[in-house]
Amino acid sequence: MHNRDFYLGAATSALQIEGSLSADGSGKSSWEVFAAKPGNVFNNDTPTFACDHYRRYEADLDLMSELGIEMYRFSTAWPRIFPQGYGAINQKGLDFYARLIEGLLKRGIEPMLTLYHWELPQALQERGGWANRDVAKYFADYAGIMLERFGDRVKYWITHNEPWVTTVLGHLEGVHPPGSKDFSLASQVAHNLLYSHQLVWNRFQELSLPQGQLGIALNLSPIQGGSNQPEDLAAAARYDAFLNRWFLDPILKGTYPEEMCALWREHGVSYPLERMEELQAGTVDFLGINYYTRNLVKGWDGKDDSGDDLLRLAQMPPELAVTEMGWEIYPAGLYELLTRINQENKDLPLFITENGAAFADQVEADGQVKDERRIEYLREHLAQVRKAREEGVKVQGYLAWSLFDNFEWAFGYDKRFGLIYVDYPTQKRIIKKSGYWYREQIRRKNENG
Ligand code: FCB
Repeated sequence: MHNRDFYLGAATSALQIEGSLSADGSGKSSWEVFAAKPGNVFNNDTPTFACDHYRRYEADLDLMSELGIEMYRFSTAWPRIFPQGYGAINQKGLDFYARLIEGLLKRGIEPMLTLYHWELPQALQERGGWANRDVAKYFADYAGIMLERFGDRVKYWITHNEPWVTTVLGHLEGVHPPGSKDFSLASQVAHNLLYSHQLVWNRFQELSLPQGQLGIALNLSPIQGGSNQPEDLAAAARYDAFLNRWFLDPILKGTYPEEMCALWREHGVSYPLERMEELQAGTVDFLGINYYTRNLVKGWDGKDDSGDDLLRLAQMPPELAVTEMGWEIYPAGLYELLTRINQENKDLPLFITENGAAFADQVEADGQVKDERRIEYLREHLAQVRKAREEGVKVQGYLAWSLFDNFEWAFGYDKRFGLIYVDYPTQKRIIKKSGYWYREQIRRKNENG
């Protein structure tokens, strides 16, 4: 018996696993172009082959069945559907996702479809990317096609994956495409991402899909100040506005956080301030939370070079053990986030749309991957989810990042997050010990009802 008040599943994204980037008439994405430029990705790795999932998806679906995965979150690549970003539909791109969705449903796996996991058609990047308002409209058109085509079979939809990352890593820190470092541009991009979400929300309402649920996946992180000194607490509040509420508030309350507005006024950025009215409150049926770590910050007076000029704060080193990403392992943070969101938005349905850890996994002489630390990480985080649920927080699912080791953006293939190990040269898959452990958790959950 499946107990599907609460799903246990796994997540991936298209570029990170598919490979075959130009197959069947697909256009190029901005990530493909960015990764091809030497120096942008660790080891100059590229997503060209990744996990070869585009060709091996049937066998991969069988692996999901073997693990007992109940929900699978994946993304569709916009350039496969609209090679130029808009205009003529590429039917073969749609067909691939139709086969994937059929394969999931046939195996009793609930699909959760992310429309944008950072793959902007390069043709649109060349026209200004997300800074161009037209791109928001093209996104809504692409979303509309996907909803019309798959809305009868896919119940859970996500517009954007981590729009903060597109904004900050792509346009402020310059480590993701398009590689810009400009706060004003980043603020405009953030607004247009939110505006595009609003447009898709509107379209979703018009279509009135009887079972459909629309959400967004935000990377959230509890922020703690270095001490109880006022300057540290103020720094923590500013960072919370920047990292969490920049996207949370518009989506849930229809406003930007006061700290962001102050920052825009201070820097003469008017674009988001002038357009706040076009964002409505409550534009999700559920909120997706991607959780990995917490952030510790303290006030910074600008007298040395340890801090951040824009936010006037300094990041503090982790206090606890870290993963291969250098991210501090802080399971209680997941409970803190869930209860906070629930307090502020009573009974909003929540999904953990990503949670997981990178470790330096190795295949041992007996052919197994014994990733005990990942099991520990998952166990501890799942316990926090359970605690929140027992207290009445409406968490409807937990999706481990990731089903497979895959192309970890600017870190290339160096970081392994999977429940399933991928040996890239041979494309052999090995279910890690954590994968078998996870299967057991799913089995037990359903046994206990
Ligand atoms: C998230 C991304 C996901 C993956 C994990 C480790 O920010 O959404 O694609 O890279 O981090």
